[in-house]
Amino acid sequence: MTHVKLIYNDDSDEGQATSPQDIAAQASAVVAIEDALRSEGFPVSVIPLKTTDRATLDIVVREIKAGGGFIVFNLCEGVFGKSSLEMHVAALFELYGARFTGSGPLTLGLSLDKGLTKDVLRARGVPTADYCIMTDPSEVAERFNPGLKFPLIVKPLHEDASIGIGPGSVVKTVTELRERVVFVTREFNQPAIVEEYIDGREFNIAVFGNGAEARAFPASEIEFDDFPPGSPKICCYEAKWVEGSPFYKKTKPVCPANIPAELNDKLSAIALDAYAIMGCRDYARVDMRLGADGKIRVLEVNPNPDISPDAGFARAAKAAGMGYPKFIAEIVFAAQKRYGQIQAHNPATGGLHV
Ligand SMILES: Nc1ncnc2c1ncn2[C@@H]1O[C@H](COP(=O)(O)OP(=O)(O)O)[C@@H](O)[C@H]1O
Ligand SMILES: [Mg+2]
Repeated sequence: MTHVKLIYNDDSDEGQATSPQDIAAQASAVVAIEDALRSEGFPVSVIPLKTTDRATLDIVVREIKAGGGFIVFNLCEGVFGKSSLEMHVAALFELYGARFTGSGPLTLGLSLDKGLTKDVLRARGVPTADYCIMTDPSEVAERFNPGLKFPLIVKPLHEDASIGIGPGSVVKTVTELRERVVFVTREFNQPAIVEEYIDGREFNIAVFGNGAEARAFPASEIEFDDFPPGSPKICCYEAKWVEGSPFYKKTKPVCPANIPAELNDKLSAIALDAYAIMGCRDYARVDMRLGADGKIRVLEVNPNPDISPDAGFARAAKAAGMGYPKFIAEIVFAAQKRYGQIQAHNPATGGLHV
């Protein structure tokens, strides 16, 4: 079996900036993936890319320059604590000719711009909510597009993990809009994307594989339990990360979603389109909402989603009948096949025809 070099972000040297719980979660995800690969027969080496210790980048470069038929399992979500540099890690692998799992730099970079992503999707016929970009609060008066219908949601253009998204993100008036644009542009030092708010059920689809073999796992629904009355039902930062907040852990992923097969098929078809258009590779997750008008719209494409055992992607793989070790191994097989290293993968035995 091919030697797998598992390269991941290690934030443990970051001092106060990362909580001990986050560091522990990061470490346990890496161990779970390493264990999965070993149990499927891969020789594995685990290589950390530390947040402040720049010498670890040299080690990574040395590892990817090494000869031999290895493949990199890319778990990096950035470098030196900056998610904006996520694409550069993939670019580095590409520059040195190392084969690696997951999406390439263009896809990773494009998805970090929610506006450009929507432009590309829309141009190719994928439905997404109307929006405009505001780089300065003064534009609320001058450039506010009256074609957009309140309520609107205001998000930082380049963030992820619901950073900058809270109950105040959904605005109903021009005054609220201006205040939120001030908050986003000042706090995050980047433009705000102002998008029509889709008040409806939220789904995501995990897509797996490449080309004609890309497949959608069963849809997952994010259910909003016991949200404080009057608060918009969104996966806000507090719901995901702030213990003690009234929103914390009140978003419940349910997979497979309790929906008719026809809706599941529609979500899958849109997700597969978005995946292909964005040039995603091996695995990615597409977030969507179903509006009151019955239309599905894509919120964003995540070409580097969380694949730890307790995350949504693994849950969706399980719902598709793929246990965790198999799912992780299949990522490697999908990447190898893409690079033309293997002709076919025998699903009956889990073995390879080389
Ligand atoms: N246009 C929208 N309408 C309704 N809810 C939205 C919209 N955009 C974002 N949200 C809510 O905010 C959450 C995070 O937004 P998203 O664009 O996926 O950013 P992130 O990259 O931070 O996950 C979504 O999961 C959803 O609950
Ligand atoms: Mg999202």
